Amino acid sequence: MAAERGSRLPSGRCLVLLALLFGSVRCLEPITTGIAIATASALTGYLSSPRFYCRFAECCEEDRPFNATALEADLNKKIFGQHLANKIILRALNGFFSNPNPKKPLALSLHGWTGTGKNFISKIIADNMYPLGMESKFIHLFISTLHFPHDSKIQLYKDQLQSWIRGNVSKCERSLFIFDEMDKLHPGLVDAIKPYLDYYDHIDGVSYRKAVFIFLSNAGGDLITRKVLEFWKDGKSREDLQLKDLESVLSVGLFNNKNSGFWHSTLIEKNLIDFYVPFLPLEFRHVKMCVMAELKERGFEPDEGLAGEVAKELTYYPKVEKLFSDKGCKTVQYKLDLYI
Ligand SMILES: *[C@@H]1O[C@H](CO)[C@@H](O)[C@H](O)[C@H]1NC(C)=O
Ligand SMILES: *[C@@H]1O[C@H](CO)[C@@H](O)[C@H](O)[C@H]1NC(C)=O
Repeated sequence: MAAERGSRLPSGRCLVLLALLFGSVRCLEPITTGIAIATASALTGYLSSPRFYCRFAECCEEDRPFNATALEADLNKKIFGQHLANKIILRALNGFFSNPNPKKPLALSLHGWTGTGKNFISKIIADNMYPLGMESKFIHLFISTLHFPHDSKIQLYKDQLQSWIRGNVSKCERSLFIFDEMDKLHPGLVDAIKPYLDYYDHIDGVSYRKAVFIFLSNAGGDLITRKVLEFWKDGKSREDLQLKDLESVLSVGLFNNKNSGFWHSTLIEKNLIDFYVPFLPLEFRHVKMCVMAELKERGFEPDEGLAGEVAKELTYYPKVEKLFSDKGCKTVQYKLDLYI
């Protein structure tokens, strides 16, 4: 087939082609030409194929299957004491990525005190979407106090943010946008991204339906803690806490909390957040698990005694019960440095 097609090329084109491919201006007999062209086109085909190209340059790969098994393994290995978050994140991402035609982008809102794993889980999601993880050019992290610090520049930020999201998604539909410190974000900015989270097929020719948005916030941490403490006081197991115990408390709480970044936001009003993900305050035993994981990561033998010592260095609240670490696992790495 290829040889036949090749031999029928007018000789002028044959000359040019061969000259281009091999730097030669001699035209060969038709059959050899055909083979040469077939080989060359197979070669250029391979060179421009995703398999070859994506080995050296990062590719968008919006249709690459998502490996839920790998995500689940990562969550179980690295995130402790968050049975709800782990379950919801896994279900949300697996459902979203196995749907070839999502009706809207995925929007997750992660809530809990500092150090409970919100940033860490975002990183794990990034790692599972693109091999380069947070370094990937398809993953964008916005930190309120860093990227949008001045209330007076809100209009500029709105325009900038919209143009970034539009620009990046039109290059790659499977883009991930992470908004850290939502509680410090000007409420107006949240509403600026609303059109992208909505149920539209296209906006000006760009489809946002394969993108993922993650919002991180300390807001709601107090509501979550109260609920977990209540459970504990009732003698119930923390693992029996269900999403329904927290989800509505959270969305109502955020909507009415002036410092949540979501204050009276249309995102909540119009149900554009697909999942509210609560991060529970961490107990002594979870902090110990973080230390053990950190030891393993650094290539040390597991040492329960040492892990306990390090965990004891942190402070726990409330005053009376001393149940939850006030910085979660956040400072564990530095505390561990003092011991090894
Ligand atoms: C998914 O990840 C698991 C665990 O990392 C791995 O064993 C498996 O081969 C992966 N599956 C595919 C289809 O890549
Ligand atoms: C993509 O987003 C980044 C910010 O993460 C921005 O600097 C860049 O200009 C955006 N690209 C386009 C094409 O809009």
